[in-house]
Amino acid sequence: MDILKLINSQKQKFPLEQPFYVNKEIFELDLETFFYNQWVFVGHASRITNKGDYFLFSIGNESIIIIRENNEKINCFFNVCRHRGSHICLEDEGRVRKLICPYHAWGYDLGGNLINAKMMEKNFNPKNWNLKKCYSQVFEGLVFINLSEKPSEFKNFIKPIKPFIELHGLGRAKIADRKIYPTKGNWKLALDNFHECYHCQPSHPEYCHVHSRDYIQSYGAGSNTGPKSKEFNKKLKIWNKKVKKLGYLTGEFSEDKFSEFFRSAERTPFSNGKLSETKSGKPASTLMGEFNEFDGGYTTIGPSPFNSIIMSNDFATTFTFIPKGPNDTDIEIMWLVNENAIEGVDYNMEELTWMWHKTTLEDKRIIEDNQKGVLSKKYEPGPLSEMEMGLEKLKIWYLKHLEKSIKKTTNTI
Ligand code: FES
Ligand SMILES: [Fe+2]
Repeated sequence: MDILKLINSQKQKFPLEQPFYVNKEIFELDLETFFYNQWVFVGHASRITNKGDYFLFSIGNESIIIIRENNEKINCFFNVCRHRGSHICLEDEGRVRKLICPYHAWGYDLGGNLINAKMMEKNFNPKNWNLKKCYSQVFEGLVFINLSEKPSEFKNFIKPIKPFIELHGLGRAKIADRKIYPTKGNWKLALDNFHECYHCQPSHPEYCHVHSRDYIQSYGAGSNTGPKSKEFNKKLKIWNKKVKKLGYLTGEFSEDKFSEFFRSAERTPFSNGKLSETKSGKPASTLMGEFNEFDGGYTTIGPSPFNSIIMSNDFATTFTFIPKGPNDTDIEIMWLVNENAIEGVDYNMEELTWMWHKTTLEDKRIIEDNQKGVLSKKYEPGPLSEMEMGLEKLKIWYLKHLEKSIKKTTNTI
């Protein structure tokens, strides 16, 4: 298959053609080009509060151990023994005093240093056989990893979205709930769906109950994903003024030129006096971060194509899209609340998770039905609507990067 030719034959304002959503070779290329070259958050520090607590994150052939060494330090290691390569941790999560390989019992401390290897030759130096580290950064409790050999500077990556995350104090949060939605669809179909709100009216009654029609039209799937709404812009202006007076952040960020990153952030108001992304519009938990009162606003951040963070003043919903196979994607959601909030007293789990749990189950169904149709020999990309600009933007970014990466590899062979 000539992928370069295929890339260049994709039509503007149409979704991708079938191979991009089903082909194994393109899927492998996708992992190398995209997931392995981005800063992606894979969890929250509050999942591993005690020394030796760990969880695994798996993508493609890689398994990463995310483990707490001490109060200050979280390490990320490749789950590959330095002896003959066995996986070391076999359970998805747990607590250990040291990492002991199940094969021949080589032992590593929580810093990844080899501390136990029996009956090796005299000149064997354990210092040369420590666990291999995966690039990682913990920012506001979010554990970011980067599987690249030469990752981009984390500082540059986080800069434009930093104030939006800090506002909500995610570093002083805990996980109230965490769920994985295994979805039988290509990762790009899952993201296409996430980057447009054309489907919200017919598919998401809960989302449309919480969010107003004018918001959905212009910002439903993030800034610049739909046509401008005069009505909403008027509301936004008034709200910005009010919130600036209260001393909180307003505004938005979107990439204005082609870059390795695909980030976005914005603050927008709820309608009809709603304070939080709940069924009643009433708060679901106690305030977080810098907020001393509810400002009636909502923050949406896209750190990478594989992550989203959606925040009310009192809780955050985070998303990680994990490509598992050409037709399989895991959507992992965490609901974060103030670290001091107590379930049943300060927050009610059902209220907190209601909208995004229902909405994600609906999205899972839509994506799976979409994938079934895309697999047909009669699938042909159809024209996009004005409310699918986010999807188009993602597609252009994707195709440009894929082309660049293929050309680079061909030049180096
Ligand atoms: S492969 Fe791990 S101890 Fe041998
Ligand atoms: Fe959706």
